[in-house]
Amino acid sequence: MNSSQMEQTCLIVPREAFYTTQLAVFKLGANGYAVFCWLGFLGIVAASIFPVEKGFGFMVNIQFIEHDGSEHSVEVATGGSVMQAAVTNGVPGIDADCGGSCSCATCHVYVNEQWLGKVGELSPTEEAMLSLSTDRKDNSRLSCQIQVTEELDGLVVTTPEFQF
Ligand code: FES
Repeated sequence: MNSSQMEQTCLIVPREAFYTTQLAVFKLGANGYAVFCWLGFLGIVAASIFPVEKGFGFMVNIQFIEHDGSEHSVEVATGGSVMQAAVTNGVPGIDADCGGSCSCATCHVYVNEQWLGKVGELSPTEEAMLSLSTDRKDNSRLSCQIQVTEELDGLVVTTPEFQF
């Protein structure tokens, strides 16, 4: 077999692979999609379920209340941080100067008491940063350290006056 025949043989394999690959997406009610992928040339079926409400990710509502009582209700996808939810929606009082690396404390919030058990534990780094704040309260958190999960749908936090 010369080198020209080798090239032809090698080209046939990916072409066959392409024609035997199938992808099917099924909607599962209002809350998700099932995706099946058939790679015929390898004899593989891959399947996955994506919980979806709007786009790929659950949307949750977070309410930010300013020190003067002004309210900002935002809808964000799960996966980011509460700080990102505020910044991307233009909520005042969250500067996030360090971009979320837990080193500036300009994303300080007070978590509504009923949500304290759902926002996760403070890391030693977050604890250290908060200990430098004179306006720290028992429900203080750095919003960049709170991950937005489905359980936080309806979360209420207040932004401290000193961040305005
Ligand atoms: S954004 Fe800097 S500590 Fe949260």
